[in-house]
Amino acid sequence: MKADRNWLPDATDVDWIESLGRPVHPALAALEAAAAPGHVPIVDRESGRVLGVLAAGRRHIVEVGTAIGYSTLWMALGQPADGRIVTIDPDRSRTDVARAAWRQAGIPDDQVAVVNAPALDAFAAGLPELAGPFDLAFIDALKEEYGAYLDAILPRLEPGALLVADNILWSGRTSGSRPSRPGDGSDELRAFSARVLADERFSGTILPLGDGLLVATYRP
Ligand SMILES: C[S@@+](CC[C@H](N)C(=O)[O-])C[C@H]1O[C@@H](n2cnc3c(N)ncnc32)[C@H](O)[C@@H]1O
Repeated sequence: MKADRNWLPDATDVDWIESLGRPVHPALAALEAAAAPGHVPIVDRESGRVLGVLAAGRRHIVEVGTAIGYSTLWMALGQPADGRIVTIDPDRSRTDVARAAWRQAGIPDDQVAVVNAPALDAFAAGLPELAGPFDLAFIDALKEEYGAYLDAILPRLEPGALLVADNILWSGRTSGSRPSRPGDGSDELRAFSARVLADERFSGTILPLGDGLLVATYRP
């Protein structure tokens, strides 16, 4: 029997996949609960699981957009014990929640460095912790700045590095399956995705997972 090409996975499939997964760390579950009431936007759990897998073997990770540290924690738990993450978010009230959660999960303070500044300012300031080279970069902050984050990150990527970015489908607005409006970030997300996937230095795709996860290997 052949696969039905018109079939698309739905919530039942996602739930079934999740039912097979190992229980998430209690600190991750606590962050999921903490994010919901205030509507702190964090990656979906399935995207978190992918970030954990991608972080394996990655010792120098940079993240743009920490919030309360959910995606950071997936990567921190997935990377080698001697790995390091530098994560950027101007909102200290959120990153304070993140630091407490990482401690609860047993992540040593020196494994994750937080930069509390707008990412483009932080990169431009030439901070030593952002010098790189990085072997994984995760972008998840202002959608209209994704292209500028890439400009800042590119010279800091080592060959073989992974570039990952969330919200690429933007609830259907980037592909046009749902209407977009000028200024809602869709144009910039479209341009960012087209740029990365057309760039011969990258080999990548967009996983239709969560809100859409771009994953690309950098091979200059
Ligand atoms: C989608 S949330 C990040 C979620 C996080 N990656 C997760 O999945 O757990 C986006 C974050 O970007 C932060 N942000 C806003 N402007 C920013 C900027 N200019 N540079 C870096 N981060 C910024 C916001 O404060 C917010 O916490």
